[in-house]
Amino acid sequence: MNQLLRAYKNVSPIVFESAWESPSNIAFVKYWGKKGHQIPANPSLSMSLKECCTKTKTIFSPSNELQVNLKLEGDTNPKFAQKIRNYLASLESELPWIMNLNVSIETSNTFPHGAGIASSASGLSAFALTFADYLKALNPNDDHSLFFKRASHLARLASGSACRSVFGGFSTWGASDLPEATDLYASPLEVHPDLRFLHDTVLVVNGTEKNISSTDGHGRMSDHFFAEARFSQAKVHFTICVQALKAGDIESVGKILESEALSLHAMMLTSPSAYTLLKPNTLLAIEAIWRFRRETKLPLYFTLDAGPNLHLIYPGHEKKQIELFIHHTLSPMCEKILYDVTGDGPKPC
Ligand code: DP6
Repeated sequence: MNQLLRAYKNVSPIVFESAWESPSNIAFVKYWGKKGHQIPANPSLSMSLKECCTKTKTIFSPSNELQVNLKLEGDTNPKFAQKIRNYLASLESELPWIMNLNVSIETSNTFPHGAGIASSASGLSAFALTFADYLKALNPNDDHSLFFKRASHLARLASGSACRSVFGGFSTWGASDLPEATDLYASPLEVHPDLRFLHDTVLVVNGTEKNISSTDGHGRMSDHFFAEARFSQAKVHFTICVQALKAGDIESVGKILESEALSLHAMMLTSPSAYTLLKPNTLLAIEAIWRFRRETKLPLYFTLDAGPNLHLIYPGHEKKQIELFIHHTLSPMCEKILYDVTGDGPKPC
């Protein structure tokens, strides 16, 4: 059994309420492909955002059976309630009392729906933090210095990328040469002071919901012709990106960022059942960014999540000229623009 949950196996449910606000994150090195249950095929690295967060209040109470009610933005949402119920039921062998729990969740996002912001990362990390709080209340004598590791572990089991949102700044997840590295939970990453705060400006090229989920996309890596090459590439990118972030080398970070985004989408285009989430304006914007960088030498780079919307990453000192370019050249190619920066991580609310 996982040692992070061992002290909670034989406790009894009580009534308890917890509320956390947790950020979304943007991956610099992507998690794309799993081995086994929520174990990543390669290490990943991301930056937590400041403004794009989910606020979640959860009330836990004893019950005859596992029941979950969930309200998203004030409206009952049976689909997400069922997702959380399935997730909690999957923890039964480690936490048998979970089947005698009533869980009532109220959740809301600080960012608009369909904006290319990973709401599963912010939403499931916020829920995992309330659940970690509950475990703390059920066994107050346990070692609570592991609170964030436990929350990250619980978040990973719900959605891989959510485990990295439990920390502010930059965080890594997955086996690597870093001292703390594990597939089980994420760890914070210290970076050079010059790169501690970066901008993430999201160009919402297309806000409609995608029809192929990330979980489905991960699945398509299992029989992908290029899978092993992709996992090796991600491991190399991870090492270079960690070194560049520590050295304050934005140019090397930017190179990895763009290569990771394009490799992620190349995997979709070349998978046995090929698909693409890119839109014509995604490519037009990429060409315009490359042109701008060639002409101005300014450090503006892009990345993509599993969707058509571009995340523009740049340091604060060149903000003025870069944001004029975004406004004049890129904004006509998108539906809306969201401005965000590196955040400090989750907080109770
Ligand atoms: C492209 O974490 O959403 O955003 O573990 O199946 O819930 P599940 O997948 P998810 O995948 C995220 C994919 C990504 C890259 C990343 O954030 O690393």
